Amino acid sequence: MEIINSVKELKAKVSALRSDNKTVGLVPTMGALHAGHASLVSQSVKENDATIVSVFVNPTQFNDKNDLAAYPRTMDADCALLESIGADYVFAPTVEEVYPEPDTRIFSYPPTDTVMEGAFRPGHFNGVCQIVSKLFMFVEPDHSYFGEKDFQQIAVISAMVADYQTQGAEWAKRMKIRPCPIIREEDGLALSSRNTLLAANERAIAPNIYKALKGSIDYSRTHTIDETKQYVINQIDAVDGLEVQYYDIVNAGTLASVTTWDDAEHIQGCITVFCGATPIRLIDNINYK
Ligand code: PAJ
Repeated sequence: MEIINSVKELKAKVSALRSDNKTVGLVPTMGALHAGHASLVSQSVKENDATIVSVFVNPTQFNDKNDLAAYPRTMDADCALLESIGADYVFAPTVEEVYPEPDTRIFSYPPTDTVMEGAFRPGHFNGVCQIVSKLFMFVEPDHSYFGEKDFQQIAVISAMVADYQTQGAEWAKRMKIRPCPIIREEDGLALSSRNTLLAANERAIAPNIYKALKGSIDYSRTHTIDETKQYVINQIDAVDGLEVQYYDIVNAGTLASVTTWDDAEHIQGCITVFCGATPIRLIDNINYK
C-alpha cells in the first residue's frame, strides 16, 4: 500500500492505472477508521482493480469549530487497517494541498441538502460537495463508495453527480455511486468515529436510538407517519441523557417529507440525537419500505 500526499502524485498514479486499463474504486473518508469504513473499502477491493482511500478531515464541512478540533485523528492505525484489508493507495493530503485557495463554489440541490442535516448544519453539505467533487475530479473513479449511515449525504452527492452529468462531465457520466449498508455494534449502535468520544455512561445509553428505530417498524404498520415519528421521539427522549434533535420520515429518493405511507415507493426515517453532557451528536436511519 502506498501513501500519497500530493494531488499531483495522485493524478500521476491514477493515469498510470488508466493506461493499464485498470478500474479504480474511491472511498472518501475522514479517518478514525472503523469496521463501517472497512466494509466500504472491502467492497471496493472486490469490485475494482485498484482502491484509493482518501483520509482527510475536511474543514469546509464543519460548521462548528469545536467539532472540527475534537474530530479524532488516528492516521497510523488507519493505515494499518487499510493495508490489512487490501487498499492500494491512501490519499492523505494537507488542507493547503486540497484548498490552495479558499473554495467559494456553491452547491445547491434542494430539498436533498436543505432538509434535516441541511437545516441543522448550515453549510455542511456545501463543504461535503466541495471536497467530494474535488476528489471525484482528481481520481475520476469507476466506482465511489458511501455508507448509508449518512443516508442524506448519499442523496446530496447523487444529486451533485447528476448535475455534473447534465453539464457533460465525462467522469460523472462514467462513475457509479455504490451505497453500502450500515455496520452496527452488536447492541445496534451504528459505528461512528464519534462513538470514541462517548463516555462509558453515554455509550451505554446510545443503543436506545436504534432500539427505538427498529421497534418503530412494527408500530408503523398500524399507525400514521406522524404517530410513528412521535413514537420514536418519545421512546428516545424518555432515556435520561438522550435528546432527539429531529426525526423525519421522508421519501428515500428525494428526501421530501411524506405524510402517508403511500406517498413514496421507498420511505426512510432519519434521526439525529444529542447524547450526554458534551453532547455528542449521533445520527442513524432506518428503512420502512
Ligand atoms: P466519514 O464520516 O469518515 O465517513 C466515510 C464513509 O464511511 C461515509 O460514506 C460514511 O457513510 C461511511 N460510514 C461511516 N460509518 C459507517 C457505518 N457504521 N456503516 C457503514 N458506512 C459507514 O462521510 C464522511 O466521512 C465525509 O463527509 C466525506 C464523504 C469523507 C467527505 O469529507
